[in-house]
Amino acid sequence: MQRQATREPPAPGAAPDIFADLTAWLEQQKQAGVERIYLPPAVRAELFEDIAISPVIPQPAPSPERPPPSEPMPAARPPVQPAARPPSRPAAAPPPSAPPSATDRDWPALASAVAACTACDLHRTRDLPVFGEGSRQAELMMIGAAPGAGEDRDGRPFTDAAGELLGKMIGAMQFSRSEVYLTNVVKCRPAGGRRPTAAEAEACRNYAVNQIKLVRPKVIVLLGEVALHTLLGPRSLTRSRGHWHEFAGIPVMPTYHPAYLLQSPKAKREVWSDLQQAMRRLGRDPRETMRQTRMTKS
Ligand code: URA
Ligand code: SF4
Repeated sequence: MQRQATREPPAPGAAPDIFADLTAWLEQQKQAGVERIYLPPAVRAELFEDIAISPVIPQPAPSPERPPPSEPMPAARPPVQPAARPPSRPAAAPPPSAPPSATDRDWPALASAVAACTACDLHRTRDLPVFGEGSRQAELMMIGAAPGAGEDRDGRPFTDAAGELLGKMIGAMQFSRSEVYLTNVVKCRPAGGRRPTAAEAEACRNYAVNQIKLVRPKVIVLLGEVALHTLLGPRSLTRSRGHWHEFAGIPVMPTYHPAYLLQSPKAKREVWSDLQQAMRRLGRDPRETMRQTRMTKS
């Protein structure tokens, strides 16, 4: 939730008063004549999960005409001045929130900011934002590009075929998936599975930066060009991979994205070499993985 410029910031260390922000913003909307507010499904779930009564905006019964969940909910009753709004968008869309600040550094604040984020147009077409998952004390953090269709539906990162391959890469590094922190630089799915634009990645970047600062992993592996360009700036992935870089004092190893490996399996050799460097930095011996692989093959 974007803090209003007129409000005092919370005292250092104090929890952000999300409900006060929300109430102030709703008051402002009411004074501006807005009668209905669209809440994305993830925000509705978060706000109303513990409340036995139904949410303020009732869910309409599913019908073939019902717009996809990322579209505004149909109004419960006709607006008083229907002509004042475009007919295809009866509910008022919240104003875009400002890009996330680089200082929202606690997990609950970050999670609610992502759930309510409208800082770029991707919020209009997403179903669920994909925050990230895994150990918040992870030694290893892996950062991809943006959610795909499955991730958008599940709200979890890397659940597609590339994610399955990523799971094998993590296993080869002698970690389990839950020991690693996984996220993307862009939290909402670009429609049609396209690559996020640089502007979308820039709008979303600070969420990943804050996640890095909260996890403080020993090593970050950047998966693919979008993650590399967004966190370290535009540069060649081919030339950057295999070499150590640094972000916020943390060693960073860029490598190819597992989705690229599905198309170009020959690049697995380079990725394995990059991951071995990361393993050594984390005190793990890649020869052990190779010994295990030989054992399971024989
Ligand atoms: N799934 C993700 O969560 N991220 C990617 O970059 C690709 C697939
Ligand atoms: Fe906000 Fe990021 Fe989603 Fe854009 S992609 S709406 S910046 S969370």
